[in-house]
Amino acid sequence: MVTSAAILVVASITLALAVPHTHVIHEQRDVTSPRWAKRDRVVPEKKLPMRIALAQSNLDTLHDLLMDVSHPSSLNYGKHWTADEVGDRFQPSSEAVDAVTNWLIDGGIPAQSIVQSENKAWLHFHAPSRKVEALLHADYHEYQDALTGGVLPACERYHVPADIQKHIDYIHPGIRLVSPRTNPSGGIEKRAIGSIVTEKLPSPTSLKTCDKAVTAACIAALYNITEGRLANPNNSMGIFESELDPWNQVELNRFFTAFASRIPNGTHPIDHNIDGGMARTNNISLAGPESTDIQLSYPIVYPQSITVFNVDDLHYQSEANDTYTWGFNTLLDAIDGSYCTYKAYGEKGDLLGIDPTYPDPGPEGYNSTLQCGVFKPTNVISFSYAGWEADVPISYQLRQCNEFAKLALQGTTFVFASGDSGVGDYPDTLPGQGFNGPTGCLGPDRNIYNPAWPLTCPYVTGVGGTQINNGDTIYDPQHVFFQPFEPRKMYKNANGTSGGGFSNIHPIPDYQKKALDTYFTQHNPPQKSYCKLATDDPSNPYALPNLTALAGNTGGVYNRAGRGFPDVAANAVNIAAFFGPDYLTASGTSGAAPVFASIINRINEERLAMGKKPVGFINPVLYQHPEILTDITLGSNPGCYQPGFNATPGWDPVTGLGTPNFPKMLELWMSLP
Ligand SMILES: *[C@@H]1O[C@H](CO)[C@@H](O)[C@H](O)[C@H]1NC(C)=O
Ligand SMILES: *[C@@H]1O[C@H](CO)[C@@H](O)[C@H](O)[C@H]1NC(C)=O
Ligand SMILES: *[C@@H]1O[C@H](CO)[C@@H](O)[C@H](O)[C@H]1NC(C)=O
Ligand SMILES: *[C@@H]1O[C@H](CO)[C@@H](O)[C@H](O)[C@H]1NC(C)=O
Ligand SMILES: *[C@@H]1O[C@H](CO)[C@@H](O)[C@H](O)[C@H]1NC(C)=O
Ligand SMILES: *[C@@H]1O[C@H](CO)[C@@H](O)[C@H](O)[C@H]1NC(C)=O
Ligand SMILES: *[C@@H]1O[C@H](CO)[C@@H](O)[C@H](O)[C@H]1NC(C)=O
Ligand SMILES: *[C@@H]1O[C@H](CO)[C@@H](O)[C@H](O)[C@H]1NC(C)=O
Repeated sequence: MVTSAAILVVASITLALAVPHTHVIHEQRDVTSPRWAKRDRVVPEKKLPMRIALAQSNLDTLHDLLMDVSHPSSLNYGKHWTADEVGDRFQPSSEAVDAVTNWLIDGGIPAQSIVQSENKAWLHFHAPSRKVEALLHADYHEYQDALTGGVLPACERYHVPADIQKHIDYIHPGIRLVSPRTNPSGGIEKRAIGSIVTEKLPSPTSLKTCDKAVTAACIAALYNITEGRLANPNNSMGIFESELDPWNQVELNRFFTAFASRIPNGTHPIDHNIDGGMARTNNISLAGPESTDIQLSYPIVYPQSITVFNVDDLHYQSEANDTYTWGFNTLLDAIDGSYCTYKAYGEKGDLLGIDPTYPDPGPEGYNSTLQCGVFKPTNVISFSYAGWEADVPISYQLRQCNEFAKLALQGTTFVFASGDSGVGDYPDTLPGQGFNGPTGCLGPDRNIYNPAWPLTCPYVTGVGGTQINNGDTIYDPQHVFFQPFEPRKMYKNANGTSGGGFSNIHPIPDYQKKALDTYFTQHNPPQKSYCKLATDDPSNPYALPNLTALAGNTGGVYNRAGRGFPDVAANAVNIAAFFGPDYLTASGTSGAAPVFASIINRINEERLAMGKKPVGFINPVLYQHPEILTDITLGSNPGCYQPGFNATPGWDPVTGLGTPNFPKMLELWMSLP
């Protein structure tokens, strides 16, 4: 008996280790953030909700197709595609679907339990952990997040047959461990809360105190924005919200009364609540800090409307035990059914603690199926949320970036805040257990810069931050957003400054090459660099970016091969706003993104009135015509206890090409077809 038991144990270990030679590693996580503790093996009978992202076809043509409708010198400028045209062009081949389905069936997954999403981009099934482990030659463990206590299943690597690898983008749950929701990067930093009662409301029209409080009038004057006059219902301004950031009518009314009196009380956004999202609250104490985005946008776009996309149910928005990635994919599902992860899916009981999946049986869960393609995207969508490239697998980012490109091909402009921590992340939070170590940076020496995500995707527009220095007027040159933060509980010693740098996974896009060449030639940063992308190494394209491997022994702290960000900038400091019932000034690039995005919305308004198309993907025009922006050359964006980069003449990884000049932007875009 003893002998045979021993043999059994040996045999089962051998089985777990022996990966057939027909299989290859598809994704591997080399480094696990100290934030995540590996716990018990997932129990064999625990059902895992599996999703297989299938590789789409023709993606190699996506970039050129997008440039064809976005480059100012293209004959097809503005000739955006329809959703159906895009769907047909990129859906996975039936060969891919068949090959992967057959592999699953051979691996013991009942054919009737495999569901394909409507657009054919995903396969889903629920299966007990033991079956998944056998299929993928993987060991699933529970991982616990030190900051939130949340638990999720994940493996360190998994395998797929070599002959079908090309059909698979990635599998989830897999290697991914993401839980950035306690990181406020891109969030508006609330300041002056203690002095709310005594702080005097600034004059709504005076431009004399714009260095102390940047009112709607200051913003209009800074960028020479004229008053909106048209109201095309097809051009509502889109704003993404989540993380318990609803707007409140009384809050908005107070803002209108104080700073934008031509907007009547009661004016409010159109709410698109996605998968249980809650755009609006009637309880003013529950209004979220990011609802300030709406206050920044209204004075610019009014009398046009604003559409708020509030994403994910309150359970996901508030649940600390989640792997929440700010719902970007939930939004993409809702505005483009072709990205959807779920068709109407009979099975209930998704596991908590994984990506938002619906129906969600949790408390306050959205108990219906995931919303797919239920809302039309607005022409412009502004996002004041961001995470970190280093925390998300490369394949996940590439897939999401392609989706931004596909929607851009249909005419949507995506505008992202560049983050508030310069070249790094906020430094460590718990001693020894931060996201990215005690400096906020990466690599074994914790000195490699930490680029943000998803604005490193070359098909979105990143907005950095500027400020009006104390004592300056709006007519003085503006300075990089730099505010030494007060020591705070979570982010001691962190400075608030404009997020910027270079991607470790996306190469320099052609539209940006000249600007980066000029920057490196004329304003070469003194820091050492490396020049290798995580996507260069074809042997392991699916892992998290490995900064040790990228930097090698160069001693480099930033990537000279990567897309530079941000693309542009706008004011991010001393924003005059209402938070709940209270007046305050707020700072953060969260305030810059909606301002820039609203200006693009106004340009679309004028173009639509002339029978033209919306501007869609704007970066090729911006880099071809930097004269429509005001170059920022003062200041720098230190982070990770390092000096960061300087703002310089021309593009720089701090304020991009500069701040908007509305009349010049409008004139140029009206001259384009
Ligand atoms: C979060 O996870 C921890 C650890 O698993 C658990 O004790 C706690 O009950 C969870 N919280 C909620 C709200 O589910
Ligand atoms: C602002 O725009 C007006 C025309 O709309 C123009 O006369 C004026 O010179 C512009 N001012 C600046 C500072 O660009
Ligand atoms: C808005 O779009 C609809 C549908 O395409 C169209 O019929 C209508 O004329 C548009 N309205 C304006 C003001 O352009
Ligand atoms: C609009 O609402 C604000 C806030 O409730 C209030 O102070 C103000 O008097 C109202 N204005 C008008 C014209 O009703
Ligand atoms: C509003 O929210 C606050 C904070 O959660 C809560 O204390 C209060 O009871 C709520 N008021 C109402 C009327 O629900
Ligand atoms: C679904 O959600 C609604 C509204 O939140 C709730 O009233 C209902 O009880 C839920 N149904 C189930 C089956 O959980
Ligand atoms: C990352 O890259 C380095 C250098 O190539 C390599 O030694 C290491 O195994 C990789 N993974 C980890 C754990 O950092
Ligand atoms: C904050 O900025 C100061 C001044 O540039 C710098 O000395 C300090 O190291 C920075 N702190 C961090 C955490 O980067």
